[in-house]
Amino acid sequence: MRQHTELEKLSAQPVQSADSFAGTFALQPNKVLKSEAEYGRIMANLGFGTDFSDYMAHATWTAENGWHNKEIAPYGPLSLDPAGAILHYGQEAFEGMKAYRHDDGSIWTFRPTYNAARINMSCRRLAIPEIPLADFMGSIVDLVRADARWVPSAPGSSLYLRPFVFASEAFLGVRAATRYEYLVIASPSGAYFPNGLKPINVFVDRDYHRAGPGGMGDVKTGGNYAASLLPKVTAHDAGFDEVLFMDAATNTNIDELGGMNVFVVMADGSVKTPKLTGNILPGGTRSSILQFLESEGAAVSEETISLASVVDGIQSGDVAEMFACGTAAVVTPIGRLASGDFDVEVPVGEKTAAIYDELTAIQLGHREDRFGWLYKIADA
Ligand code: COI
Repeated sequence: MRQHTELEKLSAQPVQSADSFAGTFALQPNKVLKSEAEYGRIMANLGFGTDFSDYMAHATWTAENGWHNKEIAPYGPLSLDPAGAILHYGQEAFEGMKAYRHDDGSIWTFRPTYNAARINMSCRRLAIPEIPLADFMGSIVDLVRADARWVPSAPGSSLYLRPFVFASEAFLGVRAATRYEYLVIASPSGAYFPNGLKPINVFVDRDYHRAGPGGMGDVKTGGNYAASLLPKVTAHDAGFDEVLFMDAATNTNIDELGGMNVFVVMADGSVKTPKLTGNILPGGTRSSILQFLESEGAAVSEETISLASVVDGIQSGDVAEMFACGTAAVVTPIGRLASGDFDVEVPVGEKTAAIYDELTAIQLGHREDRFGWLYKIADA
């Protein structure tokens, strides 16, 4: 039986109903809601992260008042002093979540307390004041209720939610800021990878790392993603979709992709993923997959996985499948793994598709939620 992480334990604690959090963020009605025509155009052409809803949640933190001015405000540009610390030193943390429309019209989200616990883990690492659970839950419930029309129902679609917190104090000295903004924005979205379960090509980068020992690799902060962009541009230019990063300490073991965790399915049916070393983001999707595979009696393990063992395994047939996973990407098969000295085709098999089906069936209320992961935000 695998040991549950702190985040898993925190997120397994009971949480009150959405009604009990409703009203934490006061609604400031938007007098210029998107027109029916604009709404129809957006909902008929769902991309990922390109269109946004009518509202956003917003609160401000100062030492005198803590988190205050909690509002559901009309979605729109922020006013930020050019000296705002986020623009200079990147003191920021974010989350990725989704709201799903079930067949009866009700709206649900998935493991929100995991994201609530993780944003505070990120806040602690970034010296940002923590966000109380009631404020985090209130921001999600109040925003999604105000933006209910933006929760799509087409297969594979959802309202992607992006909570984030950043330093807004106007000051150029390098120290933790004294003023912060917390926001949640919402984007009606289709699949992250437009080709669905079509396998992606992954370049293994051994020149750059997204994170190193003692760094910030296990928290969700923009800097980790910024570090992944140059390798990603280079890989894109060479025809790859994503980059797989190696551990910075030895440059021999696989860590994670730029914005997704990675799993390896062995020919004997066992499944493994790199263990959480402090450099790897403890993904909610990663955690969910480990838990439900284990509950089904599959052999799952978190371990040090050398790149050599993966490449050898693909060549010998010991590795049956590989996939990437995350909230945005869900579960995406990897079809090719390459670097300067190898280029191998990864078989695409049924396990990845089965894991995708299981996870999305739970999220959409089509399969019993035996783990208590679903959280109802609103009735139909
Ligand atoms: C997510 O999967 O939700 C993420 O935050 C990863 C990526 C889109 C940055």
